[in-house]
Parts: sequence; C-alpha cells; structure tokens
Amino acid sequence: MAEDLTLIQNGTKEEKYESLIPQITGLLYDETNLVANLSNIAAALKEAMNFFWVGFYLVDSEDELVLGPFQGPVACTRIRKGKGVCGSSWERNETLIVPNVDEFPGHIACASASKSEIVIPIKKDGKVIGVLDVDSDQLNDFDEVDQRYLEQILNLIP
Ligand code: SME
Repeated sequence: MAEDLTLIQNGTKEEKYESLIPQITGLLYDETNLVANLSNIAAALKEAMNFFWVGFYLVDSEDELVLGPFQGPVACTRIRKGKGVCGSSWERNETLIVPNVDEFPGHIACASASKSEIVIPIKKDGKVIGVLDVDSDQLNDFDEVDQRYLEQILNLIP
C-alpha cells in the first residue's frame, strides 16, 4: 500500500531529490507494471518538486512516441521521432536541457505557459523505450542537478 509522501517544503533542490529517491524506491518495490510505476513516479515528482508538467512519452512504433502517465495540463498525444525536444532526445539517445523553449528549433508547444524543459531518455536493455519530459513555466529552470537525479530515478524502474 502506498503511504503519503514526506515532503520537504523549504529545502534545496538537492535535498528534495535526496529525500524523494528512497520514497520512489519504496513506491516501485515489488511492482513491475510499467504504467503503474510511471504513474507513481510522475505523481511523486509533481508533488515533491512542484513541476509545471511532468510525464512520459513512450515509444509506440519505430517512428512515434505516444503520451504516457503524466501530471499537469493536458498535452499533445503523439510526437514523431526527431520532432520537438522529446522526439530529438529519443532520436539522439541523450538528455536535452532547454533553457528557453522558444530558441529550440521545432519545439512543440503543448502549453503556452511552458518556458524551459528537460527531456531524458528511458533505456531498457540498451534501447530507448520512452522519455521523461519535465516542463517549467520559468526560463532556465533545469540544470545538471536535475539531470543527475532524474536519471537516477529512471534507473530505478525495473
Ligand atoms: N514540448 C515537448 C512536447 C511535450 S509537452 O511539452 C508536454 C517537445 O517539444 O517535445
């Protein structure tokens, strides 16, 4: 059974992630269903980090992502490989930090309030099975600290 998250209200970003990681480990314990696990990761990140939009796009065919579990405003359902930040992260198989989405060629604006973004590929057996996308309504909101901890969280997915 899931328990309420213990939330750090006034800590640094590092302290919030540090406190969240063991809790996400607990949420994923003994559960291998991908949708259930991605749903709880999205909810935990939204609650603990107060992100504007956080969620997953999953590989649906060889050239398209489809919207997966997320928290935040409604979003575009399908993204082609190589398109937008999500499709580019998938194609390049690398994390992309975009300080100003208006300066990213081909950025897909699902919500007009979105100003900066980080997208991280989820790898399973060496293959990308989807991406984690986090959007902020502030410019320049993501850095290597987010990258390090979010990659660590994705590595917890069984
Ligand atoms: N901005 C993303 C699309 C997904 S939404 O932000 C939720 C992109 O350019 O891939």
